[in-house]
Amino acid sequence: MNSVTELFRVDELHAKPIEGDTEILRGLSLMVNEGEVHAIMGPNGSGKSTLANTLLASPEYQVVSGRVFYKGDDISQWPTDARAKAGIFLGFQYPQEIAGVSVIQFLRQALSARKGIDLSVLELRLSAMSWMKRLGMDSTFVDRYLNEGFSGGEKKRNEIMQMAILEPELAILDETDSGLDIDALRIVAQGIREVRKERPKMGIVLITHYQRLLDELQPDFVHILIDGRIVKSGGMEIAEELEKSGYESYKE
Ligand SMILES: Nc1ncnc2c1ncn2[C@@H]1O[C@H](COP(=O)(O)OP(=O)(O)OP(=O)(O)O)[C@@H](O)[C@H]1O
Ligand SMILES: [Mg+2]
Repeated sequence: MNSVTELFRVDELHAKPIEGDTEILRGLSLMVNEGEVHAIMGPNGSGKSTLANTLLASPEYQVVSGRVFYKGDDISQWPTDARAKAGIFLGFQYPQEIAGVSVIQFLRQALSARKGIDLSVLELRLSAMSWMKRLGMDSTFVDRYLNEGFSGGEKKRNEIMQMAILEPELAILDETDSGLDIDALRIVAQGIREVRKERPKMGIVLITHYQRLLDELQPDFVHILIDGRIVKSGGMEIAEELEKSGYESYKE
């Protein structure tokens, strides 16, 4: 119980959009041990989504300097697919809509890319059904086309189902503009808890504006990201303080 194993570490990361010279991440460092949940909060435009995208090697961003380690390997140069295959999951890593591809077909492809195993449609369907039940989703959902006409809450549930089935070792979830109602938020939190129960070593980096989600999930660490850097880290008390006084005192 008392030994901690480093899962993921970001050292002094500087990154900018491919098009443009302004750095958005300006010396960001973060360390996640196995089983830990880290929440990242920060004002609009502080670089949270850029961080998530950069961590999955989005071609939109260029790393200027700094390094990223995952399970002891320097993965700074690894492309997106290698990171996904190694077990890093990014909540929105998949295209918004894929014409003509159903939820279940998509899961099958993603699982094959992630684990190199081809589950039969039947096996996958059973596994998906069981997760959908746990996530309060309707069973007809798997046969719908991916994200086509999905409500915000349905997209989020689908994201959590992908996470459950792909069995990542590190999940990076950007909840920023998801517009969840209170029930959906609870279901997302419940879903994350369910997945953690089965995968207690999974690390989570949860980007959120929702105090409520943090109340539900009780992260081990809360970090405040301002202007591309983490300016403060601590426990839940930081989120509570933010709720009262906002980001003003952290700004330069
Ligand atoms: N591809 C890009 N090209 C130009 N500017 C960008 C690009 N991506 C991000 N930015 C800028 O970088 C800053 C940080 O954006 P980012 O999306 O990371 O913020 P955020 O912290 O996720 O904000 P929010 O809370 O609103 O989701 C913003 O000023 C944004 O306009
Ligand atoms: Mg964002």
